[in-house]
Amino acid sequence: MPRLGILISGRGSNLQAIIDAIDAGTLRASIAVVISNIPDAPGLDRARGAGLDTLVIPHAGSATRNDYDRRLVEALQQHRVDLVCLAGFMRLLSPTFVDAFPNRILNIHPSLLPAFPGLDAQHQAFDHGVSVTGATVHFVNAELDAGPIVVQAAVPVLPDDTADTLSARILETEHRIYPEAIQRILDGDWRLDGRRFVSTRKH
Ligand code: GRF
Repeated sequence: MPRLGILISGRGSNLQAIIDAIDAGTLRASIAVVISNIPDAPGLDRARGAGLDTLVIPHAGSATRNDYDRRLVEALQQHRVDLVCLAGFMRLLSPTFVDAFPNRILNIHPSLLPAFPGLDAQHQAFDHGVSVTGATVHFVNAELDAGPIVVQAAVPVLPDDTADTLSARILETEHRIYPEAIQRILDGDWRLDGRRFVSTRKH
């Protein structure tokens, strides 16, 4: 069974979606470790509640980003992680980290990238006045929200929306596409052509 390492900083609802998909048998993987940089991240409770191994690695304890990322890499390697899934992990990763897991780090972002990268993508989309936004699962490279795109799904902005109702609708879509995208990567029948994610699945 492929082993996932999940990095969180907060609520952990995407972590929960991954746990649920594994329980439901739609995602054929196991979670080797959940790591948080924030000691009281609510997502840690979800992980513990599911009986998962958790680690807190506070970034305050490291002098440089490289030092911190080296600690993360060591922890993930000790847990023999095959694929790293960022799930609300609020840190930019250095080449030290990215190079340790080539094409083996995924992130979920609450917009249709490359639109609205960075923080508060749902608010950015709402304030911009788009009528369609969405969610994106992408590979992580050393640039913010810029790696090759694996899966995207569109979410409409409705006339009565507030930024909060829009965020909630996007989140439901995130919870659906993230486990699907992880399974797609684990299936292995794909390749990257430059930035393009290309299926090599035989139909
Ligand atoms: C999600 O909106 C995700 O797209 C973004 O951070 C948020 C994390 O939420 N990267 P949660 O911690 O998974 O509930």
